[in-house]
Amino acid sequence: MILRRFWGLSHFRPSGITRSRVNLPEHLAKRHMKYGHFDDERREYVITEPRTPWPWINYLGNEDFFGLISNTAGGYAFYRDAKFRRLTRYRYNNVPMDEGGRYFYIKDRDVIWSPGWKPVKTDLDRYECRHGLGYSSITGAKNGVEAEALFFVPLGTWAEVHRIRLTNKSGELKSLKLFSFVEWCLWNAEEDMTNLQRNLSTGEVEIDGSTLYHKTEYKERRNHYAFFHVNAPVRGFDTDRESFIGLYNSFSDPQAVLKGKSGNSVAHGWSPIASHYLEIQLNPGEAQEFIFVLGYVENSDEEKWESKNVIQKTKAKACVARFDTGKKIDAALGEVRTYWDNLLGAFVLKTDDQRIDRMVNIWNQYQCMVTFNMSRSASFFESGIGRGMGFRDSNQDLLGFVHQIPARARERIYDIAATQFEDGGAYHQYQPLTKRGNNAVGGNFNDDPLWLILSTTAYIKETGDFSLLDEKVPFDNDESRSRSHFDHLKASFYHVVQNLGPHKLPLIGRADWNDCLNLNCFSDNPNESFQTTENKKGETAESVMIAGLFVVCGREFVQLCRRIGKVDEGEAAQKYIDEMIETVKNHGWDGEWYLRAYDFFGRKVGSKENEEGKIFIESQGWCTMAGIGLDEGMVERSLNAVKERLDTPHGIVLNNPAFTRYVIEYGEISTYPAGYKENAGVFCHNNPWIMIGETVLGRGDRAFEYWRKIAPSFREEISDLHKVEPYVYAQMIAGKDASKPGEAKNSWLTGTAAWNYYAMTQFILGVRPAYDGLEVNPCIPPEWKGFTVHRRFRGAHYEIAVRNPNGVMKGVTSLSVDGKTVLGTIIPLLPAGSTCRVEITMG
Ligand code: BGC
Ligand code: NOJ
Repeated sequence: MILRRFWGLSHFRPSGITRSRVNLPEHLAKRHMKYGHFDDERREYVITEPRTPWPWINYLGNEDFFGLISNTAGGYAFYRDAKFRRLTRYRYNNVPMDEGGRYFYIKDRDVIWSPGWKPVKTDLDRYECRHGLGYSSITGAKNGVEAEALFFVPLGTWAEVHRIRLTNKSGELKSLKLFSFVEWCLWNAEEDMTNLQRNLSTGEVEIDGSTLYHKTEYKERRNHYAFFHVNAPVRGFDTDRESFIGLYNSFSDPQAVLKGKSGNSVAHGWSPIASHYLEIQLNPGEAQEFIFVLGYVENSDEEKWESKNVIQKTKAKACVARFDTGKKIDAALGEVRTYWDNLLGAFVLKTDDQRIDRMVNIWNQYQCMVTFNMSRSASFFESGIGRGMGFRDSNQDLLGFVHQIPARARERIYDIAATQFEDGGAYHQYQPLTKRGNNAVGGNFNDDPLWLILSTTAYIKETGDFSLLDEKVPFDNDESRSRSHFDHLKASFYHVVQNLGPHKLPLIGRADWNDCLNLNCFSDNPNESFQTTENKKGETAESVMIAGLFVVCGREFVQLCRRIGKVDEGEAAQKYIDEMIETVKNHGWDGEWYLRAYDFFGRKVGSKENEEGKIFIESQGWCTMAGIGLDEGMVERSLNAVKERLDTPHGIVLNNPAFTRYVIEYGEISTYPAGYKENAGVFCHNNPWIMIGETVLGRGDRAFEYWRKIAPSFREEISDLHKVEPYVYAQMIAGKDASKPGEAKNSWLTGTAAWNYYAMTQFILGVRPAYDGLEVNPCIPPEWKGFTVHRRFRGAHYEIAVRNPNGVMKGVTSLSVDGKTVLGTIIPLLPAGSTCRVEITMG
């Protein structure tokens, strides 16, 4: 009893949970639990207990068609845009949470169960969910029957494939009834909340053998429909939710399943669903599999109809035919695996610690792809209707993605740049379907433009493709106002120069990276948004963080100018950078650390003079990365202050002391309780800035320590506390002032993915694409004896072995390529297709 209270354990310990007392730092060395394990060989996370502390999800799909799937098969599917093209319904903010998904019900005599445990929640004899790269496989077993459900989106396909394999492991004949279930979303997911009364009358379906079609609004302006198919004859079906579930029942006990018989219902309005009913006889030892396809079709106006009100099904049938046998499924899954082999083949690390390698080689890169695809739109924390593609976010996401598919990165850079304004300013987000910018979450975030420089130069260094600079790109999506992409970068740079405040620091505008430090919004009205309200003229509040960011991005701009022969342009820009450095030293330094900002009244923010919020992470990160005042000791003092005041066992908090009262002139930040989100939470996204800052000083031990503290694989052992998935980063871990420090929230869609990848690979391991070659200049903990990296770079293969015989943290003493010594730290470019061995000794 005492023990239980002390460790905060509940009396209930579901089977499958592994308890461990592992090699954790002192502060975490309590008994903690995990709910599965990594299978690195197969690149999977294996969950062995369905009752995870929060739904642990995965993403299906790589290009146009996506699904979110939890470890109990909850979630939904959409085509490109989770708001306007959502195929299946999902209820955020539900009780219990994560209800609704792609469900299978198995009726074995009187026992009803689901392979993913939910929704029926019958205790299973065995449960296992394997989340892999682009697929999930969920297996349940009950009373001698095993059901393995595989979910994935084949490449180049606008559909999810669900293959369910039933095996009779008992010694007797099994007569089973299998019901499938999905609930259709009537496309615009927001309307389920805002105009539900309309939706209750518009629903329309069509039934054609084993294919159930959803065609709501198809006869008006929509040219798309959805379908759910199974590759076997059905004994029945349902397309009306009430007929299948029953008005007073729930997902866990649908009346059709209880009865063991479908209603063959045809939905007219209300809530259309798709459910197949199959009867299956399984001899002892026999296995049978069924393939379900949940797909999306677009038809042109000319080919919309087969006959009056009968939809044209050619494309749906073609899609289904591509996946009608187990062999075809195996091949399609094999293609997804090969696709990932190839993507992950660009960077393969080997250290002595699996927990590092699995993050760098598998999960961090995977998460980077997901953030690239989703931006901040659809996760189990982002509802898919609120936020589109962020200007800042999508640029940053490229840092972690560009080496995977540079061609898609190139396209993305244009999409983003095309929403920019002529003066360099930007909409804060754009909509993925139309690719048009909008003000839904405000505008005038004055850091936004600079990130375009960072993503573009990252792309060119990775590919050597300077041609994108000449491409004509519109401003504000207006073709008549197109200029070269280079001019967009120039506009970004000068947007800062032209928006300086009283101290000649950059004006912050709506906010900078910290969306919640709103220095021009004084709000005493709880009904207004901090992101769209701006009631003070933005002519005084200044950001030291943007100053640091400007120096880093500005140098990139200058370097680029020189590369392309725009020497004067580069020189002109350099002057502004030099001035900014001086300005920060004179007006952005607080004595022991960098100030954060000046508020609307010209008062210091993030200063020892403040009572709360004396120090903020963002300006320490950017000014140390920029090396501002390095010679004067500013970088070192700043980073020491971070260590002393912001570092915690769970990562670095954003500010300290946390705000405990509402500061009206600071905007949203102090609305959060102390220790959460932007108010002194561990905002994981900006921790890597400090890691990189530490590498500027050459302190590899500190850089790595910060990396390790927030790395999911290192936190796996404390999964019960961490709460969200142990294989991907979360946006925030509750900080030291919170009631439960170490509890994470908002997993998956966060700039944390790209920044940690960038910090680890390019600054700690130090393998950094450069215009003229591949640079290798590690900054590692002294106890590392070395590591190896395979890097595919511009078509050639670099087998890099780093040795650290003297236990240093930084400094390359020799570099050889195929036995030949090279001076400096840059491996010259190799012809595409070739392979070389690079030996590096630190000392
Ligand atoms: C914050 C949210 C805020 C949002 C507005 C985010 O950065 O973390 O709390 O509501 O910005 O866009
Ligand atoms: C989340 C946003 O997506 C990101 O752009 C922002 O920088 C952070 N929150 C911090 O406010």
